[in-house]
Amino acid sequence: MSVANQKAGVFGVGDASYRAAGERAGIARLVDSFYRIMDELPEARVIREMHPADLAESRDKLTRFLCGWLNGPKLYAEKYGSIKLPMAHAHLRVGTAERDAWILCMRRALEEEGFEPEFSAYLLRELSKPADRIVQVSREP
Ligand code: HEM
Repeated sequence: MSVANQKAGVFGVGDASYRAAGERAGIARLVDSFYRIMDELPEARVIREMHPADLAESRDKLTRFLCGWLNGPKLYAEKYGSIKLPMAHAHLRVGTAERDAWILCMRRALEEEGFEPEFSAYLLRELSKPADRIVQVSREP
């Protein structure tokens, strides 16, 4: 995608966001950073402890999910079947503190991977939507 398109804010069009993220390899690097940061950051301990000790499957799942979510290939469905994101988190207690910690890890990962600031801001805004939905569902009895 050209820089002009990025500035015009057309990330949501077609697979523009998937390509801006560097396709599967770029997303896999982003997810690796995301989980390494979650492992290291004291503010993220609360959500790190919700995950299994071995993060290999979590990495694979999030990478594959984000590829499809960004309108790239549906790699999560291909391997793991269909998923409803809020339901996949319904067994967890996710409040605003947990959501903020998740978003913080993603913000740091985007910075570390050198993503374009406009794209990072767009992605964080878009990711906040399912994150908020996960918090809502977690509140429901
Ligand atoms: C709101 C804060 C969030 C927290 C605290 C959180 C936490 C977790 C945890 C602990 C797991 C592992 C569950 C387990 O192994 O039992 C998980 C799985 C997963 N999360 Fe999140 N998550 C959050 C937001 C998100 C967002 C925004 C996305 C994607 C846009 C996402 C995508 C996924 C995916 C694809 C899985 C694998 C689900 C499965 O296959 O069962 N999560 N999450």
